[in-house]
Amino acid sequence: MEKKQRESWGSRMGFIMAAAGSAVGLGNIWRFPYMAGSNGGSAFIIIYLVFALVIGISVMVGEFAIGRRTQLAAVGAYKSINKNWTFAGVLGVLSAFFIMGFYPVVGGWASAYILKSFTGLLSNPAAIGDVFGAFITSSVEPVVWMLIFLAANILIVAKGIAGGIEKAGKILMPTLFALLILIAIRSITLPGAGAGLEFLFKPDFSEVTGQTFLAALGQAFFSLSLGMGCMMTYGSYLNKSENLPNNALIVTLLDTSVALLAGIAIFPALFAFGMEPAQGAGLVFVVVPQIFAEMGSLGVVFSAIFFIALTVAALTSSVSLLEVVVAYLMDQRGWARVKAVYTAGGIMVVTGILSSLSMGTLSGFKLLGVGIFDFFDILTDKIFLAIGGMLLAIFIGWFVKREDLEDELTNGGTVKFGLFNIWYALMKFVIPLAVLVVAVMGIISIEQTGLMIFGLGVIVVLALFSKKL
Ligand code: TRP
Repeated sequence: MEKKQRESWGSRMGFIMAAAGSAVGLGNIWRFPYMAGSNGGSAFIIIYLVFALVIGISVMVGEFAIGRRTQLAAVGAYKSINKNWTFAGVLGVLSAFFIMGFYPVVGGWASAYILKSFTGLLSNPAAIGDVFGAFITSSVEPVVWMLIFLAANILIVAKGIAGGIEKAGKILMPTLFALLILIAIRSITLPGAGAGLEFLFKPDFSEVTGQTFLAALGQAFFSLSLGMGCMMTYGSYLNKSENLPNNALIVTLLDTSVALLAGIAIFPALFAFGMEPAQGAGLVFVVVPQIFAEMGSLGVVFSAIFFIALTVAALTSSVSLLEVVVAYLMDQRGWARVKAVYTAGGIMVVTGILSSLSMGTLSGFKLLGVGIFDFFDILTDKIFLAIGGMLLAIFIGWFVKREDLEDELTNGGTVKFGLFNIWYALMKFVIPLAVLVVAVMGIISIEQTGLMIFGLGVIVVLALFSKKL
């Protein structure tokens, strides 16, 4: 069979920006602050940082290596090395669908807030919390915004790699970074901000439980786009002269600094305004507009720019999720890109609508004890990604030839990877064990037992039946 030339990234910078674009998203700016807030702050953040900088980075190096080695996206990559492992790739594709089951809903909220910045949201700071609550529970407006957000994804991914995804990332990521710095400065100079800094940086380990560890691990994987073959897919478009460990280091450091910056932007202001850190998913949407509300008409402009940047950061992440599914359909099923994008996108329209409605109209409808939005969120974040990362580590440590890995990570011996032995030992022994311990500790202490059993069941079923995929 003749091999088609694989699409590849336009430039070195293009790849880093795209990988960082995938990593930096709602996970850093929307999710990280509220996870930190509801898990006690500083102690959670420290555990998260250790997981991101030890486990996250190693798994990312592994994903890049397997993707580039095989030149195939998740399913094909596993399958081409060892047929019995196809299921790990399939689990990734399923995770992509599940994350896309709720991610566009929040992406839609962010887009809606661009417009809301101009239409009076900031003029009544005391009502900002109620406005958010009323908005997300209504049955038309957030659904429309979700659909607009999803449509943008479909258009970008339909255009292919270099054309769409790269360009979007290049311009708006730096804008987001600059704005976060600005908000952070404003936030820490508010009277009463000290309590927020203390919450962020003074650890109190007395509140830490098995759940805290699982939440921190899930957050690390989610934020770095790991555990479901996303970075593997991006790595498959990467050319042979890139230094993989360096790229992984840069992407991880960028991602964690954006998350920390978001924390520094939000918590000091939150305490200064006398709000509750554990208020959940509305955190950014309530705190950030309040900060801007105090700045008069300049605040309106800043708020709009912030939500534009957040929307784009979310977009560069969600396109990577859609790309995982599309790449699978193209590589394994031989579909044309456009057909793959529209089919996958069509399914996401349905899950997105259900998920958005589960905030209000359908809030009484429960799947294994949780609403539809939470069903997708908890299953991926608390089980699939962590197990996906663990499977990748086991796969690399025990089923891929060590020489092949060394060859791939040193570009055939032309660049140095001094930490290879440490990385290899981490993948082979430490990470599988660490994830196992964290997952067991977390799963037994979690309230949603039914959901957890369901999630594990799905993985087992995939392992048994997915060889044909
Ligand atoms: N990392 C992105 C964020 O923080 C979300 C994301 C994109 C993702 N691709 C992923 C999460 C793959 C898990 C796996 O917003």
